[in-house]
Amino acid sequence: MVYKPDIVKKRYDNYGDREWKRLEQDANGVLLYEVHKELLLRYIKKSDCVLEIGAGSGRYTKDIVDICSELTVADISSHQIEFNKQKMKELGKFDKIKAFHVIDMIDMNIFEDDGFDNVVCIGGPLSYLMDKEKDGVRELLRVTKTGGTIIIGVMSIIGAFSYYFNEIVHEKNLYGIDAAKWALDTGLQDGIHYPSPKQHYCHMFRSRELDKLFSEFNVEVIEKSSAGLLTMVDDFENARLAKVRQEDSEMWDLIVEKEIEFTKYPGTLDCGMNIIYVIKKL
Ligand SMILES: C[S@@+](CC[C@H](N)C(=O)[O-])C[C@H]1O[C@@H](n2cnc3c(N)ncnc32)[C@H](O)[C@@H]1O
Repeated sequence: MVYKPDIVKKRYDNYGDREWKRLEQDANGVLLYEVHKELLLRYIKKSDCVLEIGAGSGRYTKDIVDICSELTVADISSHQIEFNKQKMKELGKFDKIKAFHVIDMIDMNIFEDDGFDNVVCIGGPLSYLMDKEKDGVRELLRVTKTGGTIIIGVMSIIGAFSYYFNEIVHEKNLYGIDAAKWALDTGLQDGIHYPSPKQHYCHMFRSRELDKLFSEFNVEVIEKSSAGLLTMVDDFENARLAKVRQEDSEMWDLIVEKEIEFTKYPGTLDCGMNIIYVIKKL
């Protein structure tokens, strides 16, 4: 489970516009987006200086820039940063962004200590760090002011198991029961125990692992949320969800409202596509 930044870079450098479309092309993506956006709106203040690390194509950049005083955008993938810049130009928001950087979150030495009121690291950058997870958290904390907040989102193992159920069963037939058991026991796709040629080396978390990780730092966990909860349905249900979104706006609004409400219940924390923690630097 060694962190391989080149593989992560390559993956996102070859992503085209998939990252931009991911959160709008279907009902699942939209629900995931709405939960994150609600958290961003609640935690980022108009006066805040914000860093968005692992910003990807800019799906949240376009929102964050409107709710803070100063936004710096960064990602390990130069393609994602170029794509993000282009989107912000199209949306007339480019000039509002202080800077764009291609950097790895485990080494953000271009930023001084305690420089940001709020750091946003959502959509799974931490899930790629493998043996460097603690280095990643340490860097996020270093660049955050004391009393500032960090919003961190990772992939969930239960969410991934439910959502990619068919694929996981198929891969069990290719790689064997021990590989399937390894991935489900540890949440790790590491290339050794789980030899998928896709090289999607990542850590899908259980919330108790996040509790343990953050307990090793001087932080207070101020909120925990799942995200992408009502998307844990089969293809048939997904099609129905899409139909409601297109045809019944009042029901769709109620679904979004309930997704946001239910993702805050402790019993759902591990059950969505992502797990989000909001931590305060003490
Ligand atoms: C699934 S995308 C999420 C993008 C965006 N935050 C969102 O939620 O739409 C993950 C992003 O994290 C970036 N990333 C992965 N590992 C990273 C690292 N070590 N440092 C900085 N960015 C990283 C990837 O390049 C990719 O753009």
